[in-house]
Amino acid sequence: MSAEPLEIHLEEQDLSRSLRDDVRTGLTAQPRWLPPKWFYDARGSELFEQITRLPEYYPTRAERAVLAERADTIAEVTGAKTLIELGAGSSEKTRLLLDAFTRHGGLGTFVPLDVSVSALRQSTAEIAADYPGLRVRGIVGDFTRHLDRLPAGGRRLVIFLGGTIGNLLPAERAEFLAAMRAALEAGDWLLIGTDLVKDPAVIVPAYDDAAGVTAEFNRNVLRVINRELGADFDPEAFAHVALWDPDREWIEMRLRARWPVRVRVLGLDVGFDAGEELRTEVSAKFRPEGIAAELRAAGFAVPDFWTDPDGLFGVTLARAD
Ligand code: SAH
Ligand code: AVI
Repeated sequence: MSAEPLEIHLEEQDLSRSLRDDVRTGLTAQPRWLPPKWFYDARGSELFEQITRLPEYYPTRAERAVLAERADTIAEVTGAKTLIELGAGSSEKTRLLLDAFTRHGGLGTFVPLDVSVSALRQSTAEIAADYPGLRVRGIVGDFTRHLDRLPAGGRRLVIFLGGTIGNLLPAERAEFLAAMRAALEAGDWLLIGTDLVKDPAVIVPAYDDAAGVTAEFNRNVLRVINRELGADFDPEAFAHVALWDPDREWIEMRLRARWPVRVRVLGLDVGFDAGEELRTEVSAKFRPEGIAAELRAAGFAVPDFWTDPDGLFGVTLARAD
């Protein structure tokens, strides 16, 4: 079957309005910040794919190891008819689940959802070609806003891989899990990948690689704002910073002005002193008891939690109660 045309729940106009709102709010706040979803234009999605292959970036390999080991169990236990993937990107690791569902039988539809049209176009075409029996319905949407529009009916398994839930701030995460539970029927399933708390000497290099790919990914948000909003950021005027926060147990990516910088955007004149920073992403790391507690609080039962052999990354299978 060929992939169905992408379902657009985020029109260009809507995207542009919400980028404008975020830029206005984030660049006039102190300290300055931007939400991480704006990294992912075509170049940002490609840079993220490069990150997943870096020697320092362990989360993708570790999560793949868990899925390789547990995919058959997940297919069997959930018996899903519809597989929905949030923040799907290339859906590369998802193929392990699709292969298991193919062996197990019963899965009819795959629904990847992402803000990145370019990533979705490519992945839906490739998956539809490689899994001819599967209906592939890509959705361009925002998982912080559009969970009420997920396809209904049949036994559903929603997957949220890569540790992307850690890119939400704690209050946003609670809101997301509550909205997720509200979108599901009792008996539907949720599979969540979470990077785990560990020695910062392992975590920090994963966000500050020697080849500088993460630095380019980080600066890409400035290129997106220049292109979409006609701003005049000089990305090279900003240094990439990855900082471990031991109290909040998250990595923060920031862009630090190397020298005094003035930027014109949306009629604003935004000044950065030398050394002033803009927070572009948090990437929270979890403890097993923490993620289980958050899921239970949102109305999920948590029958399974698995890690890779090195205990770097966790995958939780939860059931809507
Ligand atoms: N799941 C893949 C990709 C992770 S990268 C993996 O595990 O490798 C994060 C993905 O989430 C990107 O493809 C990005 O475009 C998407 N994304 C980020 N914020 C989003 C949002 N608010 N709504 C929908 N997709 C989002
Ligand atoms: C998508 N997300 C889980 C990645 C992470 O590790 O937080 C994004 C990323 N940021 C820097 N490198 C990768």
